Amino acid sequence: MPTDDAPATSDRHADALSVPAHIAIIMDGNGRWANARGMPRAAGHERGVEALRRTVEAAGNLGIRYLTVYSFSTENWRRPAAEVNALFGLLKTFIKKDLARLREEGVKIRILGRREGLPDDIAVLVDKAERDTAENNEFFLNIAFNYGGREEIARAARKLGMAVARGDLDPADVSEDVFESYLDTSGMPDPDLLIRTSGEYRLSNFLLWQAAYCELVFFDVLWPDFDRSWLEKAIRIYNERERRFGAVTTGDA
Ligand code: FPP
Repeated sequence: MPTDDAPATSDRHADALSVPAHIAIIMDGNGRWANARGMPRAAGHERGVEALRRTVEAAGNLGIRYLTVYSFSTENWRRPAAEVNALFGLLKTFIKKDLARLREEGVKIRILGRREGLPDDIAVLVDKAERDTAENNEFFLNIAFNYGGREEIARAARKLGMAVARGDLDPADVSEDVFESYLDTSGMPDPDLLIRTSGEYRLSNFLLWQAAYCELVFFDVLWPDFDRSWLEKAIRIYNERERRFGAVTTGDA
């Protein structure tokens, strides 16, 4: 990706838009989508995977380089076991079905989050997805799974502390950049734009460090109904925002 049928350079919408390098998405509303149709919640998550496939393709075609999606949070363990198992099953199926194609398309996959506590078969697949796509650099797909922003920061602090204890790191050298290198997103640009669907206005422990200067866009649409037109709408809103990163607008007295 970008695919042959819609290269980013000649994309009819991308021409007019300044496309953010990194978009993060909280894919919310699968359960409500299913409830509204009298379907089990798991069916909403299944349709959510289809929306994810559409979104990865659209993002690649629009020239976005990094996409980070929230698939399973450290808090989602509180859900009924059947739903947790359904979400685990969907990640397994996604990797088994889509890995070869994504690899072919130049997608580099990284799974963000805590590996401990994941069932062995998932851990094996997750490692395989990362290993098989390690050499790719066309498009970066980060799937946050068993992820929590505070857990990620605490885990980074633990690794950093261990480096200090080993004598590999001088505490006086700990800067924002050094700390960042211990996070799951190490080496990646911070997200420019974060989208949350389903009408909720929260970060829900997603990318707490990385979202420091991110533009936030909230939509009422439920995740299974999300498609390229919503992604373009979010990018248009992003284009209207003025990003100052704590500075003042050029020309201000
Ligand atoms: C939030 O909707 C969504 C989730 C907790 C899971 C998101 C997962 C997917 C989109 C599919 C999984 C994709 C992979 C690759 C494993 P919700 O269940 O909280 O919906 P609700 O707020 O309407 O109840």
